[in-house]
Amino acid sequence: MKHFLNTQDWTRAELDAVLADAARYKQHKFGDVLKGQGVALVFFNPSLRTRTSFELGTFQLGGHAVVLQPGKDAWPIEFDLGTVMDGEAEEHIAEVAKVLSRYVDLIGVRAFPKFIDWSVDRQDRVLKGFAKYSTVPVINMETITHPCQELAHALALQEHFGTTDLRGKKYVLTWTYHPKALNTAVANSALTIATRMGMDVTLLCPTPEYVLDERYMGWAAQNVAESGGSLAISHDIDSAYRDADVVYAKSWGALPYFGNWEQEKPIRDQFKHFIVDERKMGLTNNGVFSHCLPLRRNVKATDGVMDSPNCIAIDEAENRLHVQKAVMAALARQ
Ligand code: CP
Repeated sequence: MKHFLNTQDWTRAELDAVLADAARYKQHKFGDVLKGQGVALVFFNPSLRTRTSFELGTFQLGGHAVVLQPGKDAWPIEFDLGTVMDGEAEEHIAEVAKVLSRYVDLIGVRAFPKFIDWSVDRQDRVLKGFAKYSTVPVINMETITHPCQELAHALALQEHFGTTDLRGKKYVLTWTYHPKALNTAVANSALTIATRMGMDVTLLCPTPEYVLDERYMGWAAQNVAESGGSLAISHDIDSAYRDADVVYAKSWGALPYFGNWEQEKPIRDQFKHFIVDERKMGLTNNGVFSHCLPLRRNVKATDGVMDSPNCIAIDEAENRLHVQKAVMAALARQ
């Protein structure tokens, strides 16, 4: 049984088929591949896009989605084995995943890091716990990667450039300032899918401390070796933006300071000028801009960039609906 935990687990042919199916769903919204089926959407963290698009997508394919928020409207869950459960958790993932599997046909999971110890968070224990004990396919709705966002981003770029072949495009993943240290998930994912698609990728970040986890840098290196793209790290804004075809922005916390965010804050506060603005976009090859959203205007990107015809962030957000329907259909058909 196949899950959708990371795009890296799926072949390029499988991903291309999902993207093609998503493009079809964009033209023809309804289907019956989930007719009579149930989907559990388990949210440990807030969402606007993911929740709305998964709930509606399930409905449009003939199924029914149930949203659960452990610790709010569902019991808090324990993920460690062998624990004496005398704390907050009322039940163990072993029972939760097995019980949900008796009711539903797919399980989606959103579980952000706890932001205390990266060596723990990088194990992705919540998602892996669901995958281990579930007897139905599990979908990553964002943990330490965000594979659904990757597919929505790739589809938006294919639409913008009018081709499914993105090889050779100059792609900049730029860190941006945000007042709080954020999850690296979307940055890990952007790096993964951009290199998988064979683009010439530059990771632009303030200092070497903002380079991403070695697992995702490794995936990116493996991808460029297979796809013929390239991967570079830059700390120089103007040279990174120059002639770029794509600028993708995200803020994230520097991993060496994980859990010690008060030490990271004075460092990140020095780099507010990483905001995506009209001057920087003017250096690009009439480049397209996107972001996964939510986005703080005039902190991460200016009003001018967000309101520009070259901003495809809304298209990318819409595509979440279409690609997730295609992923659910692919998992339901297996
Ligand atoms: N991009 C994204 O996943 O949005 P939400 O956090 O609103 O779901």
